[in-house]
Amino acid sequence: MKLITCGLPYANGKAHIGHLRTYVPADVYVKYLRMLGEDVVFVCGSDCHGTPIVVNAEKEGLEPKGLVDIYHEHFQKVFSEIDIDFDYFGRTDAEYHHHRTQDLVRRLMENGYIYPKEIELAYCPNCNRFLPDRYVEGICPYCGAEARGDECDQGCGRHLEPGEILQPRCKICGSKAVYKKQTHYFFKLTEFKDFLIDFLSNLRGTENALNYAKQWVSAELKDWCITRNLEWGVKFPGEDLVVYVWVDAPIGYISFTEKACEKIGKKWEEIWMAEKKTSEIIHFIGLDIVYHHCIFWPAMLKGSGYSLPDAIVASGMVKVEGKTFSKTRGYVVWLEDDYLASNLNTDFLRYYLVNYTSHQKDLNFSWEIFGDKVNNELIANLGNFLYRTTYFVWKNIGDGEKAELNGFATPETIKMIEETINKIKSSLEVWEFKALSDAIMELSSYGNNTFQHSKPWELIKSDLDSAKKVLADCLQIAKALVILCYPILPKTMRRLSKVFGFDVERSKIEDSLKVEDFTIYKPVIPFQKIEKEKIEELEKIMMERIKKAISEERGETKPDEEEIKEEIKEGGTMSETKDVSSSEKNVVSFEEFKKLDLRIGKIIKAEKIEKSKKLMRLEIDIGDEVRQVVAGIAEEYKAEELIGKLVPVLVNMKPAKLMGVESRGMILAVDVNGKPILLHPDKDVKAGSIIR
Ligand code: MSP
Ligand code: ZN
Repeated sequence: MKLITCGLPYANGKAHIGHLRTYVPADVYVKYLRMLGEDVVFVCGSDCHGTPIVVNAEKEGLEPKGLVDIYHEHFQKVFSEIDIDFDYFGRTDAEYHHHRTQDLVRRLMENGYIYPKEIELAYCPNCNRFLPDRYVEGICPYCGAEARGDECDQGCGRHLEPGEILQPRCKICGSKAVYKKQTHYFFKLTEFKDFLIDFLSNLRGTENALNYAKQWVSAELKDWCITRNLEWGVKFPGEDLVVYVWVDAPIGYISFTEKACEKIGKKWEEIWMAEKKTSEIIHFIGLDIVYHHCIFWPAMLKGSGYSLPDAIVASGMVKVEGKTFSKTRGYVVWLEDDYLASNLNTDFLRYYLVNYTSHQKDLNFSWEIFGDKVNNELIANLGNFLYRTTYFVWKNIGDGEKAELNGFATPETIKMIEETINKIKSSLEVWEFKALSDAIMELSSYGNNTFQHSKPWELIKSDLDSAKKVLADCLQIAKALVILCYPILPKTMRRLSKVFGFDVERSKIEDSLKVEDFTIYKPVIPFQKIEKEKIEELEKIMMERIKKAISEERGETKPDEEEIKEEIKEGGTMSETKDVSSSEKNVVSFEEFKKLDLRIGKIIKAEKIEKSKKLMRLEIDIGDEVRQVVAGIAEEYKAEELIGKLVPVLVNMKPAKLMGVESRGMILAVDVNGKPILLHPDKDVKAGSIIR
């Protein structure tokens, strides 16, 4: 048995093209496995907990459950419209899920992997409550940027643990928060280092996920705070706390399997609690959540005695019109409001997502490319071949209702199909859906060529038997294409299989190799061409959305047309808010690098900032001036030993105030398990020397 899961969507907003990057290939994979005769369980569900949901619900005047209900239903509806067919689509606020989560957490406690620790947490004296994750805003202790409680979303992108953020403010009432002590629970992730190194060396999946995970494990692991002060969530046993959303969300993979198995009469324990492994667990996710799936999750499973995943398949992130995907900046395609509302065939989008690029690479969605791919590949090649063959036979050999060919395909044709099937199988093994769909399109081109070169329209007048031979080959290929394309283009192929008098939903891949006599029923046109005007209309909707986002961000000052055009062309240099993808963070153009003013500075004064454990106030000579810089190095370095030291400085860092002290610049250091180690030039150089 194989269990396939997809990263759970937050029930906090509508489905967009970024989500589909995970769900469509996973669904395609499952449909192929089933056609190859594998026993598959396919699950997903809504991720219902966490502070973003609570904060958003509060904003809309709803209870969290009310908000979740809306989006849970939305996801189910749009998934069914685009033919993503989970065996079970659960929700993590359900009773059965809470039960499974508490069981796993209890096992971790019994096995000694959870310990209490008193920590300092942001607390709002005005609202009278602790401020978990998104309830608090302040300054990132690593880079000085404005950050939210759990993540430095506008600066360095780091995950922030509870208690780390500086100058905390309450997100609800805006007042200054204070730090207050409270006992929380930690998961001993550090104890799993050796296990993880070993586990990752055997884990299968896409290189992108495995490589990142291996780097993280060898670099640093920290114990993980797994409780939060919230009402909404899975109760932590014996305390007035809930577990962190990233603890309970992946457990959905287990609890939804239980429900799916209940429905289809299988044993979930065979997958998740097997003494001896007889089944496989494969997680499909996006590159943004590799850490959670390759590090936290296997450690949790190991520590609690559940079965471990066999493969992690991570897709690259989605870009829109060449720019970083961003809901706030308008670089987004909404599944319901944009795509479904335009009445385009949903198979077109499935094809684009599967065929645009390798599964591991970033995928760019552009309406123009979409139109070209659909019209020039899907329709001009595949649609054309399927229609011209079936129509020709029906029209020239049939009686107006059906056509009986009385002819059989040659062994060469069967061999061609067999080769395509082999390519499909080998691509599935490495999750390369582009290679797989390219192989199918090649078979279609081959069919087109056969038809074109053998000219059945001439043959049929002179030599009916020879014409039938050619047509049998073409029909064999056409029928094979209907079967082989079904996982990618289910709606269209369901309709087309009727032309051949069968139901593709019940077919197996091997059926495409069966040599048979053909009966053809009234042909249907496979696809409708996309008109240029339609693409222009959809492009316009997106451009309007981008313009609106820019003007909203600027408040009252109306953006001028020219400027907006520049912004769109340049990819948004005017705006700083972004939803940056993790893979995106790993590439920097030379242009971007050049923006950094990096120099060697000489520390001429240093003093510890009172009331702060970590922070040190430095005066640094950067050549043309002396800068005041605040650095988090006081735990490792004494003021005296810093004087005269040469260190790299990012001179044009956005100024920030840390503990009330202004910092204009940032010194660079090595991060060893969260501790800074200073860097110095190899030879004595002048203060202000440029670093390139
Ligand atoms: N709730 C978490 C996942 C918990 S899994 C135990 C989450 N939710 S999400 O709604 O943000 O994303 C759901 C899935 O879609 C994830 O697999 C995520 O990687 C994927 N994507 C969401 N936005 C994406 C892009 N812009 N590009 C590619 N995939 C991304 O993360
Ligand atoms: Zn930061």
